[in-house]
Order: sequence, then structure tokens, then C-alpha cells
Amino acid sequence: MIPKIIEFVMQREGKKFLDLNENFDESIFNRKIKNDASLYVHIPFCKRLCPYCSFNRYLFKEDLTKKYFKNLKKELALYIARGFEFSHFYFGGGTPTIMMPELIEFIDYLHENFNVKQISLETNPLDVNCENVNLLKNSGVKRLSIGVQSFDDELLKSMGRTSHTGEEAREKILIAKENFDTINIDLMFNFPSQTCEKFKKDIKIFKELKIEQVTFYPLMPSPHKKSAMEKKFNTVDNSRERKFYDVILDEMNGLYDPSTVWCFSKGKKIIDEYIIDYDDYIGIGAGSVSFLSGNFYANSFSLENYGNLINKGKFPVVMWKKLSEREFINYYFLTKLFGMELDKNKFYDKFNSDIHSKLRKEIAFFKFCGIIKEDNENNKLEVTEKGMYYVNVMMRKFFSSLNGLREYCIENKI
Ligand SMILES: C[S@@+](CC[C@H](N)C(=O)[O-])C[C@H]1O[C@@H](n2cnc3c(N)ncnc32)[C@H](O)[C@@H]1O
Ligand code: SF4
Repeated sequence: MIPKIIEFVMQREGKKFLDLNENFDESIFNRKIKNDASLYVHIPFCKRLCPYCSFNRYLFKEDLTKKYFKNLKKELALYIARGFEFSHFYFGGGTPTIMMPELIEFIDYLHENFNVKQISLETNPLDVNCENVNLLKNSGVKRLSIGVQSFDDELLKSMGRTSHTGEEAREKILIAKENFDTINIDLMFNFPSQTCEKFKKDIKIFKELKIEQVTFYPLMPSPHKKSAMEKKFNTVDNSRERKFYDVILDEMNGLYDPSTVWCFSKGKKIIDEYIIDYDDYIGIGAGSVSFLSGNFYANSFSLENYGNLINKGKFPVVMWKKLSEREFINYYFLTKLFGMELDKNKFYDKFNSDIHSKLRKEIAFFKFCGIIKEDNENNKLEVTEKGMYYVNVMMRKFFSSLNGLREYCIENKI
């Protein structure tokens, strides 16, 4: 019952949140927020396109990728010209390591322009080898996140990930191990042909690898991908999700701490959820989204349109919205719960108001359902272990709405 209510509310709120308009107001860059944002860099190319993946990604072509990296620098230069300074960087994709010389040159450009404190980067098992690991390490990458999804060969096959076996993925992780502050692997759960038994085996292999972090993604296909997947495999059944999530809680219990409701780490580690750690983030690249002092905006998803706008010296933003205070607060509440806690003092500083006066009904509902509890000593709201599953549902629903927007933009070449 509670997940259904949460799904319903999130669907409605997600729709409102993502009701964006096309006339981007560049004056939002005039305000002084420039030192506190993180930078997300999107590299949308992959050697193979996984059928379930809802990110903005294109089949790798060398000439397109080279051009794209040049455009990224031009886009970043627009922000530099407006006085932005960044120190924390997140590369995601697609596959950021798809063209190493271009990637390393781009990271060098970051070092030339900023005081780089932290770089987190996603990769695919295929790209992990000694040479690439050394290049990444020497260029200052501190967190490497490897998209494993599963170690089970049969499951990898049904996911359309036939380029490597589970054993090969395991060997690649061992190559990367101990070369970075944090090695993370992504594992997916609730895939149609996946069973809890198979999932437990994946987690067992993760534990044996003794790496620092794992991120569990519930399957979140975009609307069209969902129907295509259901034709091919089976129904994407969210009622099975709870059982998988209970496996996660059981297996992580006492060994790894939740950095978010999806990400579990040994000790305090870097996570790639810049949406939690930074109130403001700028995304560059095709299809990146940004959040800047209550404004949410999205870059063009089309490589062609992205390149054309950049080469006219324009920000490649195609959709934008200034959030109402209510929407801003809801978004803040969601992202902080995703990161397991909300600091009430920080809320007060941000919104000049006590959280209980702004979210009275929501907090009462969440407490009544046992999703959050008060930490009076530290003046925080904390997500309970029981509440983690519900926050997972909220986040899945939010990302699913974002996937819908992404799919719409990709299909309409926006
Ligand atoms: C953008 S991918 C980058 C990783 C890399 N490209 C790879 O796949 O090896 C980041 C992670 O998103 C997750 N992901 C992609 N599509 C998803 C979907 N439809 N639902 C849930 N998780 C998804 C996968 O776990 C993946 O590792
Ligand atoms: S899951 Fe990774 S490799 Fe597969 S299409 Fe998505 S971004 Fe590319």
C-alpha cells in the first residue's frame, strides 16, 4: 500500500517537476553561486548499446567522438568565461573511457583551469586494463566505477551484454583494485529473468573481491524500452523489487554502510551522487542536466544540435525551469533522503525557514510510516532501515520520469 501511494505521488510530482519550457534565461548565471557547484561531464558513446539502458548514448564512432570532446571544451569555456570554478568532477556516460587520448587531454584541460580536488569516472569492464588504469590514476582519478550489472553469464546474455563474461569482469576489477581511493561496481536488480538466488551470488562475488563500494540499481527502463524489453523477456515487475531490496539489506548488514539507499561503502567514500553532495551541479555534454540555485535545465540530447549550438557560441540548453519554492523544497527533501539524512540546520540556511513549517504533512506521513526518524542530538532527519526501501521507490520513480523525458528528447532529436 505505502509503495503504491509513494509511486502515485512521485509520478505526479515528477511530471510537474519536469514540465520544462524552451526559453532558457541565461541571467541565472549572474548570481554568485559559482564556487559551490560540481561538474558532471557526459560522454555518450558506447561500443555496444545495451537494450535496457535509458541514458543518452550513441554507438561509438571515432570522428564523432573526437569532435564531441572538442565541443565539450568549448561548452566548459562558456562557464569559465562566466566565472565558474569547479573542484569536483564526475564523468558519466555512456562510456567515458571510450577514447582514452581524448579523455586524458580533457582531464588535463581541467587541471589547467581548475584546482581539481576530486575526479570520479564511470567505465565499462572492457576498457579496464593496466595501461588505462595507469593513465587514469596518473591523471588524478580518485574513484573508478565499473558497470558490471551481474557476474552471471546467462543474465548478462539476457541483458544484451555479450562482450564479456562474468569471470572476465571479475578479472578486470582485480586489475583496477587498489589503484584508486574508491573502486565501485554497479550491479542491477529486478531484471525480468533475474532471481534472488542469482542476485545473492553476484553480491557474494562482490564481497569476495573486497573492494570499497557497490551501487545497486533497480531496473528503471524508459517507457518504450520497457515495452520492448517486456516483448523480449518478461514483465518488468516492480512487486518483485522488495525481495531484491531485502537481499541487499541482509547482505550489506554490518559490512558496508549505506552512502545512499543504492550505494554501500566501506567507510566514508566518494559517491557519484553529486545531486546529494552538491546543492548545485552543472552538467556538460549532450543530454546532461543541471541544477543551479533553484533552476533545472537540460542540454540538447541530439549530438548534432548540441554541436551546432556550441559552435555558435551558445549554451546548448534546450529545456529549462525555475522551480517554485515548493518544487525546490520537494526536490531538496527527496535528494537528501536518497543520501540517508537531512540536516535541518542546512535546510534552515537554505530556505530561511524551519523544515517542519514547510513540510509538516510530509514529515508526519514519513514518520508515521517509519520511513524517517528524528536525530535530535544532531538536528537531522534520518532514513530508517525500514524506510530505505520506500526511498528507493521514490528515487526509482523520479529517475523513471527523467528517463521518460530523456526518451522523448532523444526520439524527437531535441
Ligand atoms: C551510464 S552507465 C555507465 C556504465 C558503463 N557504461 C557500463 O555499462 O559498463 C551507469 C549505470 O547505470 C545503470 N543503468 C543503466 N541503465 C539502467 C536502467 N535502465 N535501469 C537501471 N540502471 C541502469 C547500470 O548499472 C550502469 O552501470
Ligand atoms: S549500460 Fe553502459 S555500456 Fe550499456 S548502453 Fe548504457 S551506458 Fe552504454
